[in-house]
Amino acid sequence: MAQPTSDPIHLPPGPRAPRLVQGIRFLTARRAVVGGLARRYGSAATLNLPIFGRAVLISDPTLIKDLFTTGPELVGRATNLGEVLGPGSTFSLDGEEHRERRKLLVPPFHGKRMHSYESIIEEEVMREIADWPEGVEFATLPSMMRITLNAILRAVFGAEGAAFDELREQLPQLVEVGSRIALLPRFFRRDLGPRTPGGTMHRHRRRYDQIVDGLIADARRDPAFDERSDVLSLMLRARYEDGSAISDRHIADELLTLLTAGHETTATTLAWLIERVRRHPQLLERLTEEADAGGSELQQATIWEVQRLRPVIDGTSRRALQRIRLGEWVIPEGHVVIVSIPQAHANPDRFTGPSLFDPDRFIGNPPDNYAWIPFGGGIRRCIGAAFANMEMNVTLRILLREFTIVPTTAAGERYHSRGIANAPGDGGRVVVYRRSVTAPPEGWGAAGNLLGTASGGQSSVQQNARAD
Ligand code: HEM
Repeated sequence: MAQPTSDPIHLPPGPRAPRLVQGIRFLTARRAVVGGLARRYGSAATLNLPIFGRAVLISDPTLIKDLFTTGPELVGRATNLGEVLGPGSTFSLDGEEHRERRKLLVPPFHGKRMHSYESIIEEEVMREIADWPEGVEFATLPSMMRITLNAILRAVFGAEGAAFDELREQLPQLVEVGSRIALLPRFFRRDLGPRTPGGTMHRHRRRYDQIVDGLIADARRDPAFDERSDVLSLMLRARYEDGSAISDRHIADELLTLLTAGHETTATTLAWLIERVRRHPQLLERLTEEADAGGSELQQATIWEVQRLRPVIDGTSRRALQRIRLGEWVIPEGHVVIVSIPQAHANPDRFTGPSLFDPDRFIGNPPDNYAWIPFGGGIRRCIGAAFANMEMNVTLRILLREFTIVPTTAAGERYHSRGIANAPGDGGRVVVYRRSVTAPPEGWGAAGNLLGTASGGQSSVQQNARAD
């Protein structure tokens, strides 16, 4: 772990361009910039960025482990997301307050509890795929967005009926305007009139608070309140160490946080999952065989590998609360340390042939918590990791059971930034045939870019592990 120190400051080297220039490059071509920095400066570099100020970018697993295992007295949160989500959001809390909140929030998201949410995901996936067309190519991302939004509204908010419908309509608008202005200076978040971004956000937020107040009142009135397993009810029943409850306002902030953090991230990963497996026909065939036989080992390994090679969040960050030593570097108080997730996942010492998409690397060999970090790490590691993992497993299992997914030789989709998460640029396009109803036509030629057969005909892209 990082240590407090009074040694002279010693920062890694980095580009000398003015802060604004570095900021524009970082914002417009983050992935290319970070890749270029890694090639030029190795696994640590110092940047000078408009919002963060001087920031140290790291991708070395030893440094990452040191940072993630450092206590809250030395490093704290570094983003201003909490200013948009509200003071009761986990993203707004530090130190003891953050520890206490996580103690209450982690049990509802514990792996074992996830079974109780599986049927919700199953219902949502079945409802969504009922209208999927056969034999024509379409983007899966909109479907994945609806599945993950509805799943959180039901499993986390405990919403149904009119409240569910209104939240489903209203929340994406609130999240969209919120994520657009989250990175702007505080001035733009003020309510400066109905047509300004700040005004729009505050209007949506007032309506959101009213709906959540209604859900809280309904839950308290529910005769089956004690048996309810939605996260809202679990939070209402939870008590801090001194016996006090989480306030209703903090619950509203936290539910919005869970939705913002968990909706697009899971949907975009699912779209990448489709995008990747379609380009690996042999893998697709093995996945189908495994699902038919009731197995899930390769499916889980495939999800882990998609998250390694297509992480939807580029990085996570911590702010040094005092001068710290991190490996050979001495980082002054106030500096931000950014962990580059894609660069960490491209480390050849931790992943053989890191640019190859090869789920078999994880068979019998689960990911290491400090080398494989799509969910971040340490005391701020993603609270919803088990929920997202369950949701992706259930969704993929149903898709493999219901459909023949048609492979493609098309080039991989490019990254497209949606603000919070990176999505496949064409939305994770797919061609499917219903397994129970229609057999795919001979050669699967309907979409013009297809190959192979359901029984595993030879093709030029039959290798699982193919250069990315
Ligand atoms: C594939 C889907 C997901 C990905 C890739 C993802 C990724 C992340 C990452 C990188 C962080 C920052 C961790 C750090 O700073 O070390 C994070 C934090 C967080 N995530 Fe997720 N997440 C996903 C799904 C979810 C879901 C489904 C939920 C809840 C329903 C959720 C709730 C949270 C919360 C509350 C935090 C803040 C934790 C804290 O600051 O203590 N996430 N997530």
